[in-house]
Amino acid sequence: MNRYKIAAVNGDGIGHEIVPVGLQVLNTVADRFGFQLEVTHFPWGAGYYREHGDFMPADGLDTLRQFDAIYFGAVGLPDVDDTLPAMLYTFKVRTNFQQYVNYRPVKLLAGIEGPLRNKTGQDIDFVVIRENNEGEFVQNGKIVHGDSPYGVATDTSVFTRFGIERIAHYSFQLARRRRKHVTNVTKSNTLIHSLAYWDRVIGEVAAQYPDVTYRKMYVDAASANFVLRPEIFDVVLTTNMIGDILSDLGGAIMGSLGYGPSGNINPERTFPSMFEPIHGSAPDIAGKGIANPIGQIWSGALMLEHLGETEAAGAVLSAINAVTAQGLRTADMGGTATTQQVGEAICAELRNHAVHRSHAHVSA
Ligand code: NAI
Ligand code: MG
Repeated sequence: MNRYKIAAVNGDGIGHEIVPVGLQVLNTVADRFGFQLEVTHFPWGAGYYREHGDFMPADGLDTLRQFDAIYFGAVGLPDVDDTLPAMLYTFKVRTNFQQYVNYRPVKLLAGIEGPLRNKTGQDIDFVVIRENNEGEFVQNGKIVHGDSPYGVATDTSVFTRFGIERIAHYSFQLARRRRKHVTNVTKSNTLIHSLAYWDRVIGEVAAQYPDVTYRKMYVDAASANFVLRPEIFDVVLTTNMIGDILSDLGGAIMGSLGYGPSGNINPERTFPSMFEPIHGSAPDIAGKGIANPIGQIWSGALMLEHLGETEAAGAVLSAINAVTAQGLRTADMGGTATTQQVGEAICAELRNHAVHRSHAHVSA
């Protein structure tokens, strides 16, 4: 029997509600498909910081390295300095573990009435590939004389040929397994050095994939097209910050941020990859048991796919779609179902119904 060592990090806020439900679904599907998850919990995040002065222990990365994958909620609390969570946990793991692919599917689930009138699950079905290790978010900057009237602040983006080439190759290879179309979302008309270089290197890689159609689109136009013509996208290749922003828009056109899954992937498998919903710790609804757990559960499906349990991953996505098709909705979608009820319904689907291999957009 295959066994996988999973590090579970709830983080903060609704992480404490959705990660346990996600694990319940993962254990249910593991039983069904005959593999085992050996889960170890780590109480890290902003809550941990309040007590210990850091988001994880000094040897936290060494600890995580022993695992096959990391199943993560979100970090951040209103009373903790919000410049810290990314630096001390999220980006620390993503960069040290070379999780340079942030894989974010955008797909309208069965039965969901999204905000885009007349758009179906066929129209809204693409993946945002966000470069996850460099770009605008490298925290390469300084505040100088911040308290004086002459204060100056900088954040200098970093783009390397190495970093651009590897995310571009990943995207074109992914497109070959999908509808063979890559859109590079950029802003090289104004970021005339960094993103012009980004475009140039991507263009060179694109030339190596003549079977994949390639197009460049500026982020302002892309934002409009996410809403007006989502059907034109297949693989959206973009930078760290643009991808961060566009994937929340992706969540919105799926109906709720609570539906969006993601994988922070180290394709070479030198390090464990980390799976988390696209949203944050949602302190405004934390502790009420009403968070939408589907982005977290779908992230679990991405994790199974990455671990090689492809059929189980497809079964989780089918079960999610069966439950959304039944009309079960949490408060973010105007419903009254609790986090727990949605999780139970998905587990029941996995237990009671024949599971088919789906053409799931879980492939990472
Ligand atoms: P957020 O994504 O936590 O919340 C935005 C809005 O969406 C809120 O109204 C929230 O209630 C709603 N929402 C989010 N997830 C939901 C779910 N599963 N079900 C129902 N409603 C949901 O973003 P916000 O408010 O900007 O940030 C809150 C905290 O989370 C901050 O400390 C921020 O730094 C942190 N954060 C952490 C991330 C991570 O750990 N990867 C990512 C994004 C934000
Ligand atoms: Mg974000």
